[in-house]
Amino acid sequence: MTRRLLVVIDGPAGAGKSTASRRLARALGGTYLDTGAMYRAITLAALRRGIDLADGRARAAVAEQAEVELIPTDGEGCRVLLDGEDVSAEVRTREVTGNIHWLAGDARVREVLVELQRAFARAADRPVVAEGRDLASVVFPDADVKVYLDASVEERARRRAKELGAASPALEVLQDEIATRDRRDSTRDVAPLVRVPDAVHVDCSALGPDEVVARLLEVVRAAR
Ligand code: DC
Repeated sequence: MTRRLLVVIDGPAGAGKSTASRRLARALGGTYLDTGAMYRAITLAALRRGIDLADGRARAAVAEQAEVELIPTDGEGCRVLLDGEDVSAEVRTREVTGNIHWLAGDARVREVLVELQRAFARAADRPVVAEGRDLASVVFPDADVKVYLDASVEERARRRAKELGAASPALEVLQDEIATRDRRDSTRDVAPLVRVPDAVHVDCSALGPDEVVARLLEVVRAAR
């Protein structure tokens, strides 16, 4: 069996990984794997069950019992199902985002989700573009193309403020939130965000979405 092209894109929150990964997947005629959505769904499951998030056994039980599924859509995205229910919008709330670190920092939760991510890639009949934090380092160390997509904290805060529009807090508040998530993601004990030596570093602070995709296509072509 010929192996499908597998491109992984890691990087900090707000660097534009989602837009870039979706658009790259489309340009390659492939499918998009949003691993962050899985951590979001499992966090939502824990919140809905009302477990004590500090209780490791309770977290593991949620990961083992909840059914998380990603369904690629015809457009560029994918839908997130939790126990069969479409929770694509609900997993984006601030409450979920603010509590993900409990689940994302848990070794057993990660073990369960990593297995789901590998199964998704194995089952794909098209190229896969996956985005996350630990894809090159842990989940898919043998990926065909590894990218580390980055942008400055200031630029990421500016982009987030634009997304939030009138509801946005001050830029300094957003910068603090982003810096906190960066610190949590890169200093946790299990599967921290790291830039592996064989990843191509793309700093997109000064690039628009079209330029980012063009750059990523160059990287993919160079690797083939
Ligand atoms: O990419 P995102 O913002 O939707 O990710 C949500 C959270 O999930 C983020 O705080 C870090 C975590 N995450 C992770 O630990 N490992 C991944 N492969 C993807 C996301």
